[in-house]
Amino acid sequence: MKSLLAGCTISGAALALSLLASTAARADEISIVTGLVGNDLGLLQEQLKSFEDKTGHTVKVVSLPPSSSDQFSQYRLWLAAGNPDIDVYRTDVVWAPQLADQFIDLTPYTEDVIDEYFPSTIRSQTVDGKLVALPWYATIPGLYYRTDLLEKYGKDVPKTWDEMTTTAREIMDAERADGNASMWGFLFQGAPYEGLTCDGLEWLVSSGGGNIVEADGEISVNNPNAAAALERAKSWIGTISPPGTLSYKEEDTRGIWQLGNAVFMRNWPYAYALGEQDDSAIKGKFDVAPLPAGENGESAATLGGFNLAVSKYSEHPDAAVELVKYLTSPEAQKYRVMYNSNAPTAVALYEDPEVQAKQPFALRWEDSLETAVSRPSNVTKSKYNEVSSLFWTAAYNTLSGNGSAQDNLEELELKLYQLRGNGW
Ligand code: GLC
Repeated sequence: MKSLLAGCTISGAALALSLLASTAARADEISIVTGLVGNDLGLLQEQLKSFEDKTGHTVKVVSLPPSSSDQFSQYRLWLAAGNPDIDVYRTDVVWAPQLADQFIDLTPYTEDVIDEYFPSTIRSQTVDGKLVALPWYATIPGLYYRTDLLEKYGKDVPKTWDEMTTTAREIMDAERADGNASMWGFLFQGAPYEGLTCDGLEWLVSSGGGNIVEADGEISVNNPNAAAALERAKSWIGTISPPGTLSYKEEDTRGIWQLGNAVFMRNWPYAYALGEQDDSAIKGKFDVAPLPAGENGESAATLGGFNLAVSKYSEHPDAAVELVKYLTSPEAQKYRVMYNSNAPTAVALYEDPEVQAKQPFALRWEDSLETAVSRPSNVTKSKYNEVSSLFWTAAYNTLSGNGSAQDNLEELELKLYQLRGNGW
């Protein structure tokens, strides 16, 4: 301090002191909570280091298990208790209506940057005019397929679920006969959690079986197309899909896939960049197509993705907002998309030559950002989590052989009527 102030005039010394004080006051310690898959943690830590160097703040990462349902339960507990220890929450795209009251309105802080994001991603995070979170990245799932195996057996990329089932079976049987006993036909997420709601919604919509609850609030899930779609998925368990599927989440399926032990996999875009890494057994041997369609329907992909929100209970809201704006900025999204193939939410990156050259895969889903299927969270609002949990339970029971799809959907319909009461 002495040497810093030596030679200063009185007013110069006062200025230096006040600058030091203001720097100290601005150097906050904040925390961000997030679930992690693949290389998320390493990437986030690199980006936080740059943020810390730039701003003087320090950021602690609180990491949660990868299941988005587990994250939601934990968030709800912390937020209900008004926990001041977490400043920034990474939120799933479907949570905005349920958690809106617990986060600050980002509108006044983002007027300068709001046009940088896809309008659909901003809309999804706006509840009654309040901007609940800033879009970080979007996820659109696809059908991962082994290019080498389809070529070896002279098969086309399947366009319908039935074609996928037949091709998966044929290649799996042939590979097993050839000595590869660990080979499976199709991997998907069958554990009872939010991921199964996403997979199940795709089966329904692609088969003309509706959106569980329609945009006008109608409960549509109990219908023959939906039942047939669930029965078809049940037929995969233990035939083309491992019996363990009933406990698989995204990372379980990616693990088997990346060892080279499956012909097809339904997964989100993050699995692409990881599958192309040097240590991956399938590097250069796979690609991703739209998910198959049902007989009467069209391919349907559930819109996923994550956003960043600032807790109403944060004691450092300014630093927290700074972090949210930093991580979701086009520059930070660009850094991230070079290593992680989820779809950016910043419009400019879709025209960026470096991203186009290094990670064209992540840019494939631009149109899907508008057309992907939304889970019924906007219509069921604060009841969405329960709707989802009732749906994944009916799907899980069907997959496990616990009741027919028809019976399970009938029971689900009754429970949804009860939950809705006089309105969503
Ligand atoms: C992915 C999606 C998210 C979804 C979750 C389900 O992480 O981005 O929106 O809820 O999968 O497992």
